[in-house]
Amino acid sequence: MGRLFAVVSGKGGVGKSSFSVILARQISLTESVIVLDLDERLGSLDTMFNVADNKVFNINDCINKTKSVNEAALKVNPNLFLLAAPADELNLNGLYEFLLGLSFKYQNIILDLPAGLNVNLLKAIPSFCEFLVVCQQDGISVKDAFLVGEKLRELDFFEPRLIINRYVYKRSFRSKILGVNIDNIIDSSALRLLGIIPENEEMALLFLGKHLKRNNKAKQSVKRITERLYGKNVPLPNIKKI
Ligand SMILES: Nc1ncnc2c1ncn2[C@@H]1O[C@H](COP(=O)(O)OP(=O)(O)O)[C@@H](O)[C@H]1O
Ligand SMILES: [Mg+2]
Repeated sequence: MGRLFAVVSGKGGVGKSSFSVILARQISLTESVIVLDLDERLGSLDTMFNVADNKVFNINDCINKTKSVNEAALKVNPNLFLLAAPADELNLNGLYEFLLGLSFKYQNIILDLPAGLNVNLLKAIPSFCEFLVVCQQDGISVKDAFLVGEKLRELDFFEPRLIINRYVYKRSFRSKILGVNIDNIIDSSALRLLGIIPENEEMALLFLGKHLKRNNKAKQSVKRITERLYGKNVPLPNIKKI
C-alpha cells in the first residue's frame, strides 16, 4: 500500500502548491507518485507542472467513475502523474473510497488541499494520511497551523508535521515586523518541525511551469524534507544559512 500525504494550511497563499510540486518531483526521482489537486475551481498544478494544455478530465471524473485514473491523469514524467482540480465542487461522496483504491496503484499520493479547515473534506481522507502543515513566519499563519493541528488530532490522524516556508533569518524590516523566530513558531503551532524552506524569489518560476535549478536553496530544503519523510536522519542546517 502506498503512502498518502496531504499538504495543508489554515491561511491561504503560504506555499502549499509550490511545496507540493517540488516534493512530487523529488519523490518521482525514485518512486511513482500521483498528485491530486483538490483546490476546487482554483487549481494551479496543471500550469505548475506544465501540462495544462493536455487537460481534458479532472479528479471528479475519476471519483464519479466516468473515467479511469489512466484515462484522466496527466503524465508529468514517467513516474509522476497529476489529477487536475475539478472545475466546480469536489465530489466528496466518493473521495474516501477513491483514495483507498489509488493507494494500491501508486507508491505515493500527494493531496494539495485548499486553504482553510474544511472538516467534510478532512473526513473524506483515510486515516493513514500523513499531514504536512505549511505556515510562514507570521503570527496569523502560525495560529492557523495550530488550529489545523488541533482539528487533525481531534479527527484521529497521525501527528501532523510542520513546514515553515519563506523563512528569512536576517533581521530585515519584514522579519522584524512579522516578529516570529523558529522557536516561537514551533511552540505556538504545537507541531513537530519537519523542515524549513527559505524565502526564494525563484519560486515564482514554478508558476510558469518551470523547474528550479539543482542548487536552488528552496529546492535543496525540500530535498532534505523528502529525505526525512523517507526515514533518513538529515539534520537542519545552521538557520543562518538555510
Ligand atoms: N519559499 C518561497 N519564497 C518565495 N516565494 C514563495 C515561496 N513559496 C511560495 N512562494 C510564493 O507564494 C505565493 C503563493 O504560493 P502557492 O504555492 O500558490 O501557495 P498556496 O498553494 O498555499 O496558496 C506564490 O506567488 C509563490 O511563488
Ligand atoms: Mg495552492
